[in-house]
Amino acid sequence: MRFSVLTLFPDQITDHVSKSITVRAEEKGIISVVAKDIRDHAINEYGKVDDTLYGGGTGMLMQCDPVYDSWLEIADKDQIRPYTIYVSPKGHVLDQAKVIDLSKKEHLCIICGHYEGIDSRVIDEICDEEISIGDYVLTGGELAACVIIDSVSRMIEGVLPNSEAYSNESHMGGTLEAPQYTKPAVWHGKEVPEVLRSGDLKAIEDYNGIMSYIETMKKRPDMFERLEISEEDWQKILALKKSL
Ligand SMILES: C[S@@+](CC[C@H](N)C(=O)[O-])C[C@H]1O[C@@H](n2cnc3c(N)ncnc32)[C@H](O)[C@@H]1O
Repeated sequence: MRFSVLTLFPDQITDHVSKSITVRAEEKGIISVVAKDIRDHAINEYGKVDDTLYGGGTGMLMQCDPVYDSWLEIADKDQIRPYTIYVSPKGHVLDQAKVIDLSKKEHLCIICGHYEGIDSRVIDEICDEEISIGDYVLTGGELAACVIIDSVSRMIEGVLPNSEAYSNESHMGGTLEAPQYTKPAVWHGKEVPEVLRSGDLKAIEDYNGIMSYIETMKKRPDMFERLEISEEDWQKILALKKSL
């Protein structure tokens, strides 16, 4: 899968992808990440890419042409138009379902705004959707682009060792992952639940399934409310909760 990022700060993207899982995925040839400097298509020789806002207001807005020409440079090389995302606080808030959906695309082009953002006309012309990484405002879209590259990459086959590595993770099935522990078995008087040390795989799977519901109930009641839980599992939840 290919990621092309249009940005005024390409180093922020390459610094991030040169570490951990994304660099290994690149080395294996599963993903490629290209960060393209929008300033290469600046309006003048001084690197101008922004201007003041029509209608007044403070700050500067990124202009259409540098963004459009950078996008054309990427899009024209391909027979298939890249699926193009503008990362923006106005967008649909990224969740795991959207991450999985994006992981099926062949080529994602992510456009990062800066300053007051980007002239709406070019966004309307080239973007398939706007994605936000949360209801707050960042200084630029680079962190959001890295969040998308990271979360989408780990859903692509071959990036993680196997699908078990993510299938029980938080948000994959509408729940949070059960609490996890490593050695030592007792730390500050807190003991790892006996069942997890028993080696009984079926009992461990059942326990983790119910603990995943309890974790969701405790930490994300909004998600828990949306779950459809069988009568049998409800009884198990109540029994396990009582014993904790
Ligand atoms: C300072 S923000 C512009 C905010 C814009 N004036 C507004 O109020 O909607 C600059 C850039 O950061 C990025 N950005 C800011 N918050 C974001 C968020 N929550 N998710 C994704 N990108 C964000 C966008 O690319 C945006 O163009």
